Amino acid sequence: MPSGLQATAGGPIPLARPLLGDAEERAVLAVLRSGQLSLGPRGPEFEQRFAARVGAAHASAVSSGTAGLHLALRAAGVSDGAEVITTPFSFVASANVAVYERARPVFVDIDPLTLNLDAEAAAAAVSSRTAALLPVHVFGYPADMATLEATGVPIVEDACEALGGSYADGGTIGSRGHPAVFAFYANKQMTTGEGGIVVTGDAQVKQRIDSERNQGRAPDMGWLDHDRLGFNYRLSDIACALGIAQLERLDELLAARARVAGLYRQALAQIPELTLPCEDSGRARRGWFVYVVQLPPGADRDRAVTELGTRGVAAKPYFPAIHLMSYYRERFGYRRGQFPVCEEVSERSIAIPFYPQMGEAEVTRVAQALSAALRQGRSSRVSLAAPGR
Ligand SMILES: Cc1ncc(COP(=O)(O)O)c(C=O)c1O
Repeated sequence: MPSGLQATAGGPIPLARPLLGDAEERAVLAVLRSGQLSLGPRGPEFEQRFAARVGAAHASAVSSGTAGLHLALRAAGVSDGAEVITTPFSFVASANVAVYERARPVFVDIDPLTLNLDAEAAAAAVSSRTAALLPVHVFGYPADMATLEATGVPIVEDACEALGGSYADGGTIGSRGHPAVFAFYANKQMTTGEGGIVVTGDAQVKQRIDSERNQGRAPDMGWLDHDRLGFNYRLSDIACALGIAQLERLDELLAARARVAGLYRQALAQIPELTLPCEDSGRARRGWFVYVVQLPPGADRDRAVTELGTRGVAAKPYFPAIHLMSYYRERFGYRRGQFPVCEEVSERSIAIPFYPQMGEAEVTRVAQALSAALRQGRSSRVSLAAPGR
């Protein structure tokens, strides 16, 4: 049980839980029995099926979303001293990958509704040093690609949270031809345990990524022969087999997440001071990954998380602003006040339990616990402020 999560009637409700069954077990067992645990047939099969699913020409499976972002940025030409324009409201990996290449992550503030990077601000930040734009489809909601594409700067999409989503023009996330990276940790829409994949419309990008994930070996080279610097970012056949089995039921997994999001929207309508995830607009569709709510301004977020824990409901501050993390402050000189929308949203946001198996009873329990945690926070603020105490 995660620390801080108390056992309560009905059992603790975790933040995330993968949905795995007999098909996944059979797929993994078959690879174990085959004796070919990596660099076997499951890799290319998974890549082809995934590319077809998102409408991309090519895909390269890698060991994590982070590894995929790193290789995609290298393929986009990011290197020493360059700048990568990205969002400070994300999981830290989307900024770290620029630093891996000794580039500077240049943050811009976010849109208060979609929580994605403000595309106009990103376009305005483009300079002669800009090597790439790295939009993140935060919490599965598509970034404003048309405005970013109009800059003409190479783009790498962080789609790690966005499987199943669609852009504003209705196209499937991952189908635009830019490298787009998805991730498969066990809290994602589908999982390979750990893992990621880069999709691209460019055969040369795939070739480079395939080589760099495998120590810099060209496809026609012999064992231990390498013609460029590379990494070990391979994904095993065990993981790819799990990925194929999950891909086969992806419609079911996505539909179940959308159902839980619908249940939350209904249940949380009873707590009007919460800000819920933005609704889909036009043809844009969220690929449901997490359920993040913003507490009312001034609410004690950390206390609310603790209160939820005592009621058996897992919750996490989500996301802490990247530019305020000590590494980014010290290395790049970022400071509080630079991205006020991100900072405010970040201080108020928590992820609450969200996984496909959640039923109405669990959603109701989470909503009741959240309501109680907010009431508790209000009464303690009132009593602290009361004169004479
Ligand atoms: C927005 C974003 N970028 C990158 C990553 C990194 O993926 P991984 O954990 O597979 O390296 C994640 C994973 O949680 C993510 O949410």
